[in-house]
Amino acid sequence: MGQNSQDSFYITTPIYYVNAEPHIGHAYTTIVADVIARFYRLSGFETFFLTGTDEHGNKVVEAAEKSGETVKAYVDRISKIFKETWPKINIKNDYFVRTTDKNHQDTVSKILSKVYAKGDIYFSEYEGKYCIGCERFYTDTELLQGKCPIHLTEPKVISEENYFFRMSNYQEWLIDYIATHSDFIRPERYKNEVLAFLKEPLEDLCISRPKTRLSWGIPLPFDDNYVTYVWFDALINYISALGYPDGDLFKKFWPVAQHIIAKDILKPHGIFWPCMLKAAGIEPYQHLNVHGYWNINMGKMSKSLGNIVKPMDLAYKYGLDAFRYFLLRDMVFGLDSDFTEESLVKRFNSDLANDLGNLISRSMNMVVKYFDGKIQPPSAFKEEDILLQDASYKVIEEYTDMMKKFTFHKALIAVWELIGKANKYIDTMKPWVLATHDQERLNTVLNTITEVIKIVSVLLWPFMPHTAEKIQHQLGLGIVGVKLPLTSLKKWGETQKVGPLSKAPPLFPRLDPDRELTRTALYSKKITEQDLKESKKNDFLSDRVSPEMEEKMKEEPGLVSLEDFQRLDIRVGTIKEAETIPGSKKLLKLVVDIGETRTIVAGMAVYYQTNELINKQVIVIANLVPVTLMGVESKGMILAAEDKKGVYLLIPDKESKPGSKVR
Ligand code: MSP
Repeated sequence: MGQNSQDSFYITTPIYYVNAEPHIGHAYTTIVADVIARFYRLSGFETFFLTGTDEHGNKVVEAAEKSGETVKAYVDRISKIFKETWPKINIKNDYFVRTTDKNHQDTVSKILSKVYAKGDIYFSEYEGKYCIGCERFYTDTELLQGKCPIHLTEPKVISEENYFFRMSNYQEWLIDYIATHSDFIRPERYKNEVLAFLKEPLEDLCISRPKTRLSWGIPLPFDDNYVTYVWFDALINYISALGYPDGDLFKKFWPVAQHIIAKDILKPHGIFWPCMLKAAGIEPYQHLNVHGYWNINMGKMSKSLGNIVKPMDLAYKYGLDAFRYFLLRDMVFGLDSDFTEESLVKRFNSDLANDLGNLISRSMNMVVKYFDGKIQPPSAFKEEDILLQDASYKVIEEYTDMMKKFTFHKALIAVWELIGKANKYIDTMKPWVLATHDQERLNTVLNTITEVIKIVSVLLWPFMPHTAEKIQHQLGLGIVGVKLPLTSLKKWGETQKVGPLSKAPPLFPRLDPDRELTRTALYSKKITEQDLKESKKNDFLSDRVSPEMEEKMKEEPGLVSLEDFQRLDIRVGTIKEAETIPGSKKLLKLVVDIGETRTIVAGMAVYYQTNELINKQVIVIANLVPVTLMGVESKGMILAAEDKKGVYLLIPDKESKPGSKVR
């Protein structure tokens, strides 16, 4: 370990291919990196957080061709989308690397020259099965019935002369290194996967592509007819961004490097990269942290299935912090997880609105009500107070340990146990009863509660920065972030020095699952005006996600122009078929004739039997962006009135021709 590195922390995400725009999978990894970087900053570490884009290789060239742009214009455009998405979801990376950066390209050349000079690169002929999606050759045993196990497509047989990296030279070293550094790759299942792979003889790695086949890449410094294989190029980003070999950042942060990836790219990171580093005479990274895959409604997320979940859609709809919390709480780091909007809404209501939201609002309200917002100093603590204090200190320890091990869901469970204890403490202490006869005890109890809330807010900051800052603001602590480090938490009773507290709207107003799941254009390209209104109303987006959105909100007119109204395609439809959707109590799948046949998902299973809907005439908004609900694509919305008792379909007064315009 380097001299300056003891209190330093370096975290990276994969650099994402620019052949697609950011989706929930990219967002998850990047949010994890942000959470862990914030945690280390909170713990007083000097932290460097790197993300970026991977811009060479066939895949990118193909995507550029499809979009009809030059490769350069295309990579600039998509890279910018990635770069601009991250701040919108409150990701604070220290640097954004692009593999088309000159500095990166120079570093790749330097490493190649070094490894070549050492004799670890040779020229040879090779024939192999190549998957363009993965940008790599597959051996027959790796293929699944002859197809790429990731893309399920047949690989191309390619035969050509190329340069090879003598990876086989490093096989024994790597096996030994993994054996003697037990958490080099974690969780353990992925370490075992790498070790299992290393049981077979390791083949040398083809690290070049002839320019005749692919010119978009970094030229080999020792043969201008070739460009560098995209993985050999991309992995080097982790050191080029630090200014390898002489940069101060490199010296400070490389000795404490940790990578985060998903299981799809375990082999390049668990095998190629350590061998490359060894060959170049560079120490290996400290930890490779590997997580599982987010699936959507039990299936793979893919463009062709039309179920790509975009992070911004969710952040707009539910609020950014709720989205970040959900991702980190619902996935067990290392295992796959199924994303459904239903589970997000459930977690929102139970953990955020109920447990956390109630604790904060009832406590703050009491301090305002009984003390005019000024927290009073405690008098003698009783056993119940000390128990809660001990529990809080224990949670800080557990949380710190879990965070360092990347078991984020456990860290959050520990925080929620404390929230539960605090809520129970309030129920048992009954401050509203104390207020009638025991002022001293009331002071101590409310002081104790606000102290717990302060601790909770600091522990939540890495996950939900805006929420934590809002709570701290309410507590009169101002925006703290790094100013209130973890170590400062073990000074019970400090909260009384600041204040006064102010009453504030609920942090997470309860969501109505029926409405949430049928509202909105999730999986859509465009956020509707209605979404913006909802977000504003609920204030949980006061952690605003984008400047554009803020602008729109300021302008929000309240009135709709005729022109806007005319953009809606509203028609009469006749319901032809109606069926329930397995797994959903609320949703029905309807086939509706609106001059053309449309499948529409409607949240009315509780109010209407399927058979009573057949041949009913309804009013349909026909030009809403399609949404996918419980795996069914819904193309339109059926209008209904709603009151406390139920939902009532809007029906034309007289039988009308399906497709008739509503004006
Ligand atoms: N460019 C390479 C990485 C080079 S790193 C030197 C690459 N890019 S990628 O755009 O395909 O990103 C893959 C990564 O995106 C995964 O390892 C993971 O971090 C994230 N995810 C993409 N889809 C995901 C899910 N469905 N679920 C979770 N994470 C996923 O590979």
